Amino acid sequence: MFGAMQGGALGPRRHRVAPGSRRYRARVVVVGNEKGGAGKSTLAALIAISMLYRGQRVSVIDLDLRQQSLSRLLANRRRWLPAAGVKAPSPLEYKLVEDPARIADDQPLALRLFEEAMVMAMGDSDLIVIDTPGSDTAVSRAAHLQADLIVTPMNDSFVDFDVLGNVDPVTLRLVQASHYAETVLNVRTMRAHNNRRLDWVVLRNRLAGADTNNRERVGLALDSLSEELGFRIGPPLRERVAYREMFPFGLTLADVSAGLRPNKVSSPKLAAREEVNALLEALGLIVLAPRPAPVLRPVEHAAFAASL
Ligand SMILES: Nc1ncnc2c1ncn2[C@@H]1O[C@H](COP(=O)(O)OP(=O)(O)OP(=O)(O)O)[C@@H](O)[C@H]1O
Ligand SMILES: [Mg+2]
Repeated sequence: MFGAMQGGALGPRRHRVAPGSRRYRARVVVVGNEKGGAGKSTLAALIAISMLYRGQRVSVIDLDLRQQSLSRLLANRRRWLPAAGVKAPSPLEYKLVEDPARIADDQPLALRLFEEAMVMAMGDSDLIVIDTPGSDTAVSRAAHLQADLIVTPMNDSFVDFDVLGNVDPVTLRLVQASHYAETVLNVRTMRAHNNRRLDWVVLRNRLAGADTNNRERVGLALDSLSEELGFRIGPPLRERVAYREMFPFGLTLADVSAGLRPNKVSSPKLAAREEVNALLEALGLIVLAPRPAPVLRPVEHAAFAASL
């Protein structure tokens, strides 16, 4: 009925925590936004696979029971890696059932299976990444309740802004929090009762090169909402073909950055890798080595000293 998948087969349940040993809790990252097409699945895959390359034991759960985009990407990965004869790390995937679409309308059952999956994933992982659907479902709400970190990507548009709240077009202040924002705020309150923190990071996705006026206004509105709703603003991801062209291979930018690149895929710009690293750091998942201080030539050095 339920199991962990890796390498294409329903695998045995793995228990890495020895009986009687002190259990630790895996960190839970939920990628959520009730707006469709914001980049949740793309980001969930990117986070999960990036962290595998950094040596973490990562499990994923795809709660978009109908679309299963993350699950389909991983199925492509399980097919392509052996076919191409390359080795790369894959997350342990917990599927609620073999065909999750079948239980999408049976939320009580999905809820029960999700809770079982979480118990098992906790013993198996350092990090659990959960992708959620672009709509409010009972199982998605349950996942948000388990989150240590909620990551909300949004398109750089006032249309997508409604997922956070309705803003006054002149003052850009919050008029009314959205249904999704209320859900996250409730989760935060419930966790606070149990002395557990919740970090909520909102970031703009698919940032276009032009469009500076809109970008500036969305940025200002986001700053204002961040204060009112208590989320942090993560560094944006630009619109890049590198985020979408590797789905059929089951790969992400993290694989290409690690040197795994199918022939047909172009090499992503260094800026794309830096963008991903900046995001992982902002999410508190990695710590980047400090950049070396710039070497100043004498004339610059004099100008710098004079400016102090
Ligand atoms: N930064 C980006 N640059 C280019 N394309 C992107 C970027 N982020 C996402 N996409 C593309 O945008 C589309 C929507 O992304 P994705 O499926 O990750 O969104 P989603 O929030 O999971 O959608 P849904 O709510 O339907 O599950 C996909 O075609 C994806 O490849
Ligand atoms: Mg999705």
